[in-house]
Amino acid sequence: MANFKTLDDFDLAGKRVLLRADLNVPVENGKVTDATRIERLIPTIREITKVGGKAILLSHFGRPKGKVDKAFTLETVVPAVADQLGHPVGFIDTDWTDVEQARKAIDSAPEGSTLVLENTRFHPGEEENDLELAKRMASLGDIYVNDAFSAAHRAHASTEAIARLLPAAAGRAMQAELEALEKGLGQPKRPVIAIVGGAKVSSKIELLENLIHKVEALVIGGAMANTFVHALGLGVGKSLCEKDLADLANTIMAKAEAARCAIILPIDGTVAWHFEADAPHRTYGMDAIDPDGMILDVGPGSIERIKGAIDEAGTLVWNGPLGAFEMNPFDHGTTEIARYVAARTKAGKLVSVAGGGDTVAALAKAGVKDNLTYVSTAGGAFLEWMEGKPLPGVEALKQG
Ligand code: 3PG
Repeated sequence: MANFKTLDDFDLAGKRVLLRADLNVPVENGKVTDATRIERLIPTIREITKVGGKAILLSHFGRPKGKVDKAFTLETVVPAVADQLGHPVGFIDTDWTDVEQARKAIDSAPEGSTLVLENTRFHPGEEENDLELAKRMASLGDIYVNDAFSAAHRAHASTEAIARLLPAAAGRAMQAELEALEKGLGQPKRPVIAIVGGAKVSSKIELLENLIHKVEALVIGGAMANTFVHALGLGVGKSLCEKDLADLANTIMAKAEAARCAIILPIDGTVAWHFEADAPHRTYGMDAIDPDGMILDVGPGSIERIKGAIDEAGTLVWNGPLGAFEMNPFDHGTTEIARYVAARTKAGKLVSVAGGGDTVAALAKAGVKDNLTYVSTAGGAFLEWMEGKPLPGVEALKQG
């Protein structure tokens, strides 16, 4: 963390602190259904407000495409922030073309207040990383604090340009995230094993290409493993498979070998004939998949093999489920491995870092979401980090 300022570097008393949050949380019928991102902001808000600073939250919400669209108002999320905080939270409406009313509202709020500004994406300048908009935003605060790792892959006015205009720091959630990621792939305890799952190789090409140079072992699971199995000349029946990517899969396997990264593919699979929960199923070896069946999960032999590989590792990085985890019993492989990772972590044998929407849902289903070293709530930002790309929101903090 040497590159970043944190809350420890500032006297926050009486300051207007613009806190870039990620309040892009799931909402159904006007109610927040998962407040994890809000929960993680609370320590930073408290640190600001307890010394009489004003915590002024800046965030996007959904994709309103640069227009005021009240279907995406952040006012919806304010009660959930107040609930988590246990204090009233004010809402400041603005279309971001003129911020004078917002400034008055901030100035007249008492010290120690928490306020939420309207959706930054109501103005087209947000996604254009427009300097004029960033200046208007910056004029509302004395210090900029970014606690939104999950939006850090976007070079937007409220994540990038603004960080160059005010004294800037990482908030506690961002700090924890960056420290955990450093342990995951930056300076990890070796050997490192990565588990990558999910449906499609095509969405994870850059990630696989980066990981083979960073880790000693790479487990490929989920439907994307079928593309590799097919590339090896084996049948995958009616399973999801990107057959046109067979050459790419072979290239990745050859590059991995040259980089001394072991690729671990399933050796057996749980096969069903209908894609539905509780469908009749059977285990087949990967060299004998029923031509009419679909592989919906890794089989017991594969689970044992993956556990053995985890036993060898000092660090694990995980993105993507190993099977159709949303349907019982095809969550079995993902759940077994999730619980094993949690147990190894608890025993002090493994540093484990996981992220991505489906991965967090799978860990929650397995009951171990809080038992890994770190679970990131970021989707796209976590993937780009695994791809080895610099994240604009993080890079901008380094200048601060
Ligand atoms: C997310 O939910 O992953 C972040 O808030 C980023 O949202 P976006 O993909 O709309 O930029």
